[in-house]
Formats: sequence, C-alpha cells, structure tokens
Amino acid sequence: MSQLVRVKISALGTYVPPRLLTNADLEKMVETSDQWITERTGIRERHIVDKGVATSDLAVEAAKKALAQRGIDPSDLDAILVGTVTPDMFFPSTACLVQNKLGAKGVWGFDLSAACSAFLYALQVGTQFVATGAHKRVMVIGADVMSSIIDYTDRATCIIFGDGAGAVILEPAENDSLGMIDFIHEVDGSGGCSLYMPGGGSLNPSTHETVDQKMHYVHQDGQAVFKFAVRKQTELCEKILERNGIKASDIDVFIAHQANKRIINATAERLALRPESVVINIDRYGNTTAGTIPLAMDTARQEGKLKKGDLVLLASVGAGFTVGATLLRWAY
Ligand code: UT7
Repeated sequence: MSQLVRVKISALGTYVPPRLLTNADLEKMVETSDQWITERTGIRERHIVDKGVATSDLAVEAAKKALAQRGIDPSDLDAILVGTVTPDMFFPSTACLVQNKLGAKGVWGFDLSAACSAFLYALQVGTQFVATGAHKRVMVIGADVMSSIIDYTDRATCIIFGDGAGAVILEPAENDSLGMIDFIHEVDGSGGCSLYMPGGGSLNPSTHETVDQKMHYVHQDGQAVFKFAVRKQTELCEKILERNGIKASDIDVFIAHQANKRIINATAERLALRPESVVINIDRYGNTTAGTIPLAMDTARQEGKLKKGDLVLLASVGAGFTVGATLLRWAY
C-alpha cells in the first residue's frame, strides 16, 4: 500500500426542500405546543418534501452545489458514498440513483447505514479511500427524507424530524496542516430497541398487518436515546481530544448531530467547550438524521464561524446505537 496522504474537505453543498412544517402546523396535527417543542428540543420548524420527492433528489441537489463550488464535473469523482436510513427503495442503492441523476460516468459508490452517524461513518470511509491513494476525489453525502417514515399522529417522534441533505468532496490536502486528523467510532447494538423501524425488512416483511400495526414508522424511547447520546458522545469526544493532545478550549468549532438542543448543550458543557464554538441550527431544520452535520457546517460557514485553519470537532449519535467523533482542520 502506498504511503497515507493527508485528506481534506474541498467543497460543501446542502439542500432542504422548500416546504416548511412549523410548530404551529404541528399544533394542529397532534396534542403539542410551540412552547413544549421549543423548550424540550430547540426546534421551531423543519423542511418536508412534497409527495414524489425522494432522498436521491435531495442528495443530487446538495451534490450539484458541492461540485459547482469546486468547479468540477460529476465524472471527475471516483466514488459516491451515501449515508441514509431512508433510501429511495431497498435497492438499487441511493448511491446508484444519485450517480445516474448526476450523470457521473465511470463512478462507483454505495450506501452506508448508520442512521444519524452515517455522515461521519461515510466521511471516515471516504477519507481512507483518498488517504491510501486508491481514489483522488470522493463525494460523501448524508441525506434523509425522515418524513417518509414518521407517524404524524405520534407526538413523541413527529415533532423532531425533518428532511435534508449535505454533500462534501474529499481530496488530497496539499497542505499537511489542514484536513482530516482523526476519527473514533463505536456501535452498541444493545440500544437497537430504543430507536428503530421494525417493519418492511426481512424480519417483518410488509403486509397489511405490519402496516396496520404501524411497523413502517420510527419507534423511539426518547429518554433512553437522550441519556445514551449525552454520555457516549461526550466520552468519544473526550477520547479523541485526549489522544490528539488537544484541550477542549482549543476547539474553534463544535458541530454535533442536531437531534435535540439540550443534548448538544449538555455535551458541550460536559466537555467544557467554549460556548461560542457550538453550532446550533436545529431551530431551522429539526433532526434531518444523516443530513444534520453537513447542514450545520453550512450554517457555520454562512455565519462566518467556520474558517480556513479552524480546529473542528464533529460528534454524532444515532440509532443502533451508533456514535462517533471526528477531528479536522477546515481547509478552505
Ligand atoms: O437522532 C437521534 C434521534 N433521537 C433523539 O436524539 C431523541 C432524544 N430524545 C429526545 O430528544 C427527547 O427525549 C424527546 C424530545 C423525544 C422527548 O423529550 P423529553 O423531555 O424526554 O420528554 P418525555 O418523553 O420525558 O415526556 C415528558 C412529558 C410526557 O408527559 P407526562 O408523562 O409527563 O405527562 C410526555 O407525554 O411530555 C409529554 N410529551 C409531549 N408533550 C407535548 C411528549 N412529547 C410531547 C409533545 N408535546 N410533542
């Protein structure tokens, strides 16, 4: 194997569908209130697709923006990795659908399933393709249409999720001091029963009965997920900081999976991160699952919070359970 090369994110694109679902809209659908949702989650509105729009459509829009920013053609990519829990269909993979819609000739790719951690997991896989010299340009996409698997009569889940996508391009870094630094990931399958969609797979193939029993929707034990998220996200962040000799106060930008504002703030407080380093955009997008981290990167860029050379800590936690932390220096 050739010597490892340093890898950077060279471009970022995001997309959310135009239609808004506000807390006021949800007040008319289930017994809830804007005040409860805002106080318990930090969410004010989320974007939801219209009928007929699927995960690949959001992914393609985000991908096009990243390609345009970098000034390259789809066929200049070597691989497309799509992290999603809401593929357009079981097969073909959403990566194949995105490749075709982009017209990315000669490009390969696949989907990666890690729920809310899928973007960070795919980011590590893509980084390794470039680091080993196997590929020059890899696109990593996190995209989900959560509205396709949400029961809009269940107030415990329908208030949280939204639809959205983000894409980054990974390339060799010409400057050794910029780019990806380290990744830590873990799964804890004992948490599978706390957040899952039981129907439609090989265990419970779709039947009238599985639909009647609402098995094609997200089922969640919110408090169990909340506790695991704060504890484990903090633990992996501490580990990655320690093994790289970095103090929490050195972190310029902290971007965590946007599942609940209270989870993000509790993690940031436990880590003793500087409050101004914490990026939160959950108020605008809700929890878009694999889309939250690139969407939050974009928010940070637009707000002038994420600049070349900034030391960035990324953290994610999701169904599985899956959990991860990533360190990098922003490269453009
Ligand atoms: O990407 C990973 C995905 N998921 C997560 O990260 C979710 C993590 N968990 C959470 O974000 C929170 O647990 C929730 C937002 C889901 C729920 O918040 P909570 O503070 O844990 O509420 P709870 O489930 O303990 O419920 C407290 C009360 C209950 O009423 P009682 O029993 O105290 O009378 C619920 O019935 O709030 C009630 N409740 C609601 N009230 C108004 C639950 N959902 C709602 C609602 N509106 N939407």
